[in-house]
Amino acid sequence: MNMYTLGIETSCDETSCAILKDYQVLSNVTLSSLKEHKKYGGIIPEIATRAHLNNIDKVLVAASKEAGISLKKLDLIAVTHKPGLGGALVVGLNFAKALSLALKKPFIGVNHLHAHLFAPFLNYPKRLKFPFLGVVISGGHTEMYRVDDFDRIKILGQTRDDACGETFDKIAKAYNLGYPGGPIIDKLFKEEYKNDFKFKCGKIGLDLSFSGIKTALIYKKKEIEKKNLFNADIKRRLVSSFQYVALETIIRTILEAKSKFKMKRIVCGGGVIANKYLRRRLESEEKKGIKVFLAPFEYSGDNAAIVAGLGFYLYNIKGKKSTIKLEAQAN
Ligand code: KG4
Ligand code: ZN
Repeated sequence: MNMYTLGIETSCDETSCAILKDYQVLSNVTLSSLKEHKKYGGIIPEIATRAHLNNIDKVLVAASKEAGISLKKLDLIAVTHKPGLGGALVVGLNFAKALSLALKKPFIGVNHLHAHLFAPFLNYPKRLKFPFLGVVISGGHTEMYRVDDFDRIKILGQTRDDACGETFDKIAKAYNLGYPGGPIIDKLFKEEYKNDFKFKCGKIGLDLSFSGIKTALIYKKKEIEKKNLFNADIKRRLVSSFQYVALETIIRTILEAKSKFKMKRIVCGGGVIANKYLRRRLESEEKKGIKVFLAPFEYSGDNAAIVAGLGFYLYNIKGKKSTIKLEAQAN
């Protein structure tokens, strides 16, 4: 018997619903309020919450239609309940609770960061083997884990200040490049410019720090502007040098953890994993005995398919479910 899982994701600016047939994605509908945040250069929680409230029912109907599965056919409802923006999480969680009561179907709360770690295995469950080194690089988090099971996930290292994606966004804002900064800097990156400026990224053991490099980029811009030398080409050289050192520092940390914990599998998810240079570099680390799994482009950012995926495993394999008392846990 196949099982149909509905996933619901509202932790940040994406309102997303997905339906899985076992571990196969039938639909994954995401509506982002990104455009509404653009003029502020960052996510405004109030705007995100209101957008979730306005859109969640429409997104659910679209996901059900695309999958060809009526709500009555659902067997399980999986929802992100942590971490994220408080108000935004509450919208999705309460929506999931209401559906669970109305449809008389179980529901389960999922840790959004853990869900990112299983993105590469959606549609390909046979590839999944424990243990693995899990890496989440997103707008809100830069974390590394030892993953021994669906519910045995231990943090090994993280950023001590800004997250990696957040740093891309803040630098892009300071350089008037637009929002979100990650994809823009990704496009501007030119390999031949990678060493034009010598920036440094903070690393303490397996922890990282990005606030220093962010400040260095902002000061460098001011310094060059004073000499009237700031132009599009210099900008491109600066952001290329930044991207290179930021991503190479992350890669070095991942490889260090891999050796330290004798991991043979590296699994990466989160919005920044969409970066072309990062993907190429990580893929090049796949060697005899070392496997690298990257979230496919469509499942790297925030989406409900990853939430449904982990919920399906936790419920089916680990026998977990949540009670109506489950609370949202903000960042
Ligand atoms: O996982 P995600 O969609 O949302 C969070 O949970 O944060 O990640 C969004 C982040 C943003 O900071 C965005 O700038 C970054 O991912 N990002 C990228 C790229 N695409 C998105 N960073 C670098 N290169 C990219 N191509
Ligand atoms: Zn995320």
